[in-house]
Amino acid sequence: MVTAKGLPWILRVNDLYVEFWTHDGVARPVNGLTLQVGKGQSVGVVGESGCGKSVTALSVLRILPKAARISGGKIELQLRDGSTRDLTQLSTNSNEMRRIRGGEIAMIFQEPMTAFSPVHTIGNQLCEAILLHTDCDEKEAKERSVESLRSVGIPEPHVRIDEYPFQFSGGMRQRAMIAMALVCNPRILIADEPTTALDVTVQAQVLQLIKQMQSQIGLALYLITHDLGVIAQMVDYVYVMYLGCIVEEGGVDDIFETPLHPYTRDLMRSIPTVSGERKPLSTIGGVVPNAYSIPSGCSFHTRCKDMQGEVCRSERPAPRRFGESHRVSCVLYEDAAR
Ligand SMILES: Nc1ncnc2c1ncn2[C@@H]1O[C@H](COP(=O)(O)OP(=O)(O)OP(=O)(O)O)[C@@H](O)[C@H]1O
Ligand SMILES: [Mg+2]
Repeated sequence: MVTAKGLPWILRVNDLYVEFWTHDGVARPVNGLTLQVGKGQSVGVVGESGCGKSVTALSVLRILPKAARISGGKIELQLRDGSTRDLTQLSTNSNEMRRIRGGEIAMIFQEPMTAFSPVHTIGNQLCEAILLHTDCDEKEAKERSVESLRSVGIPEPHVRIDEYPFQFSGGMRQRAMIAMALVCNPRILIADEPTTALDVTVQAQVLQLIKQMQSQIGLALYLITHDLGVIAQMVDYVYVMYLGCIVEEGGVDDIFETPLHPYTRDLMRSIPTVSGERKPLSTIGGVVPNAYSIPSGCSFHTRCKDMQGEVCRSERPAPRRFGESHRVSCVLYEDAAR
């Protein structure tokens, strides 16, 4: 099985469902989501706030909060030895899952302070990850930690390694988090809004760093963002997510040049431009419905400008193929698909 771009897959999420059991009822943030990441490929997942991007990533790493459960689907990972594991079948605290976290799949978050313990030095935390995942002794682990800080552009790493996270600036902390994520040579990096909290200059540097690390070690990148500018710059394949499922997917050119789904088209119209005629910025009507009451049929129908009536309210559209790798789930294209 290969990805749409012809690459062999390394991570494959198939028809995934996640539920949160809370006092207010059952929330369903992930509803039949299917996506795959090829070896060394850069894939972007884009969608509005609350559509389930982070919950999907946390499911892959099996670090969901206690109230959550994976209620359906598979998360298949191809291991280095070529064998395949369905991560939904592994127990969260099993040794195998611990080895996979960091050793096969690493994650960086929007806010680095959530990834670092505030009471241990950066060096201690890097060494701990190395000792957990490799056969290094403490001396080697320290040397490797210094090297990893140097590789992400932290000046005087042998000094900075003994500092605490609060002594690093925001951009430096983000670099240190990338170092920590990559220190055990994972094959997939999940980056969840890695630059949203940074100013534009530091954002550009951090994105550049991720790209550079990716090409150096052949990492696959699974980038989550609501920023289409970041998507255009960083990935070659895009999944557009709405209320826990993928409504459109395709190469970055397909998505930007010929967006098909009314939701994707709305997202594209809401990107500000600096050239051409000045006009008010387009917004998507309404808000993302909450995960406790997902609309029936096509879940976007409550906000869709192209709503076709009962069919959209009652039937969930299947993905239709356009050309090599472009797919859209919308009744507008039922007959037009190739
Ligand atoms: N701990 C939780 N308890 C209950 N429901 C939750 C919890 N965490 C997430 N959810 C539900 O899952 C939905 C999706 O959340 P998620 O964090 O995945 O959104 P997101 O797409 O990452 O948004 P953002 O762009 O703001 O980060 C939320 O709207 C909420 O209904
Ligand atoms: Mg999120």
